[in-house]
Amino acid sequence: METPESMQQLEELFHEAAGLGPHERADFMARVRDSNPELVAELESLIAAHERPDGFIDSPAYETAAEPIAKAQPVLVAGQVVGHYQIVAPLGKGGMGEVYLASDTKLDRKVALKLLPAEFTNHKDLLRRFIQEAKAASSLNHPNIITIHEIGQTDGVHFIATEFIDGQTLKQRMTRARLKFADVLDVSIQVASALQAAHAAGLVHRDIKPENIMLRPDGYVKVLDFGLAKLTEKSSQSKASASEVDTMVRGHTKPGTVLGTVDYMSPEQARGKVLDQRTDVFSLGIVLYEMAAGRMPFAAATSVDTLVSILEKEPPPLDEYAPEVPAEFQRIISKALRKDREERYQTIKDLLIDLKTLKEELSFAQKLERSRPPRSSAGLSIKRAATEAPTTIQTRVVAATADPSALRSVRPNRRLVPVALVGLVLAGLAIVGAVLWQRGSSRPAATMPATAVQRTVSYWMTVQKYRDGKAYQDPFRLRDDINFEKDYRIRLNITSSQSGRLYLLNEGPAGADQTPTFNVLFPSQTANNGSALLTENQQIQIPQQSWFQFDEQQGTEKIWVVWAEKDVPEMDAFKGFANAKDRGVISNPGLRTAVNEFLKAHSSSSPSVERDQDKKETIVKANSGILVHVIKLEHH
Ligand SMILES: Nc1ncnc2c1ncn2[C@@H]1O[C@H](COP(=O)(O)OP(=O)(O)O)[C@@H](O)[C@H]1O
Ligand SMILES: [Mg+2]
Repeated sequence: METPESMQQLEELFHEAAGLGPHERADFMARVRDSNPELVAELESLIAAHERPDGFIDSPAYETAAEPIAKAQPVLVAGQVVGHYQIVAPLGKGGMGEVYLASDTKLDRKVALKLLPAEFTNHKDLLRRFIQEAKAASSLNHPNIITIHEIGQTDGVHFIATEFIDGQTLKQRMTRARLKFADVLDVSIQVASALQAAHAAGLVHRDIKPENIMLRPDGYVKVLDFGLAKLTEKSSQSKASASEVDTMVRGHTKPGTVLGTVDYMSPEQARGKVLDQRTDVFSLGIVLYEMAAGRMPFAAATSVDTLVSILEKEPPPLDEYAPEVPAEFQRIISKALRKDREERYQTIKDLLIDLKTLKEELSFAQKLERSRPPRSSAGLSIKRAATEAPTTIQTRVVAATADPSALRSVRPNRRLVPVALVGLVLAGLAIVGAVLWQRGSSRPAATMPATAVQRTVSYWMTVQKYRDGKAYQDPFRLRDDINFEKDYRIRLNITSSQSGRLYLLNEGPAGADQTPTFNVLFPSQTANNGSALLTENQQIQIPQQSWFQFDEQQGTEKIWVVWAEKDVPEMDAFKGFANAKDRGVISNPGLRTAVNEFLKAHSSSSPSVERDQDKKETIVKANSGILVHVIKLEHH
């Protein structure tokens, strides 16, 4: 187990070793072997990775070639001719050589021409790799993978002619501005599709990074640069393994080589292990994170520190930088970035499936938004309450953490902390009926066919009185239609004789768009294991381990109850989009609107509400498969 201390120590040793020449370093390593034997292996891996130029792993020739290549570019100018290609302009430069826009004089079309300079033609390994790149990429036929036209040689210069991509690299795109989330998802899916095709052909790209991804203005994304791609046929596995380990050992011998980016390396790549398709999963995870967050997950001051981060540290939660990004996307990235590849997505296909599902859910939510039913009276009343929020509603539901002494035995319910909840409205009970909701339907709810199904649910409040920050009296039961004292702390209890799906949403004040914010109270990871499914007579208590607390001013809290016979895909989708860090706050404006519309669509017929004086509970019944009811808690 790596402790923070050992990590810190490793990092220090690493910095020290990185600054030494080969002889001094041998002595240094011998001392480390004595003093910290447990760190030696890790330290050696880090040094090896640090010194691998541009992250290239399996070519010893590259060590000597890396520096000269940088200086000895064949600087071609417009008009020069290479074979039947005429140079138009330089396009870019990577680890292998220079890439030019050129005109194919035979076919009269634009191409990109990648050149391996003449002086490296004698580097057997470089040449082999150059040819291998062309072969690898040309064996793949996929809309998101660059198309190879030709590989050739003229006047001692080897070249690869590919389709010209009239666009920008993802790296260039990201320096311009942050991508919209829809674009992030779109690019992610296209790159993952490309990788899936490569993996299916037994090829691992091994150098996935924003410079190797290009975006065309028409929306197409192309993965380039198969210069590091490698076949991973099972039969050649053991052979490949031996040669890579060998290379890694030799990698130690050449300190001070110009270092390319290590930013997108997988941990196993940094350690010089034999790679499989899961290295692409990790590197893609880094790219996804960077697109969404606008910063790299493991970025650090030096490449050494970056390597340490890749090997040892967890990236900051994505929603620190991208609060609008769905929690599901964060989950996908976390799974792609597992350091232990056994815990990662095992195939890019699984990653791709999750990305596509998320995209479908998102576009469904958008469709929902577009298919808003006409405004109903229930909708108007919601809107009125919402617009009044800033002036008349000062209520706030907060977790009962304000007074730790009184609540020692309970855990704070962090889901309720977000200030977005300020001003939850309240004003007596408005029971709203449920109607069958149809996916994407724009028909007004009232025209839906009636159903014989009936839904019923009962609820009551548990109240704990507080005075001067201290609990007094035993908790007692109350109905929801009273005016609560401000120093009461409350819980909501719900049960039904039926089984079904329960969703509870807390409505907050409206934003500038006049749509309220919503907070998913149930299900959550801490309540019912994240499942909406309730069995007959199961009783749910919210919050489970703490209390809702009213604030000083008087106001109203609104809690929406959705009690459905079957799964409610819309609700499950909303749940998935709840912002992870804010513990349930649906902050995305489009989704807030969608939730609002969903609740309104189901509020246009009225379920019946009975209040049982003796049992102090409220019973709600709806002639529908989905019951939607708003609990309004008033307090003064
Ligand atoms: N087909 C292409 N169309 C347009 N630009 C390209 C094309 N291929 C490469 N480039 C540009 O050249 C850069 C280097 O190309 P790449 O294939 O990644 O070479 P290297 O193996 O040297 O990294 C890319 O980052 C991109 O900016
Ligand atoms: Mg490249």
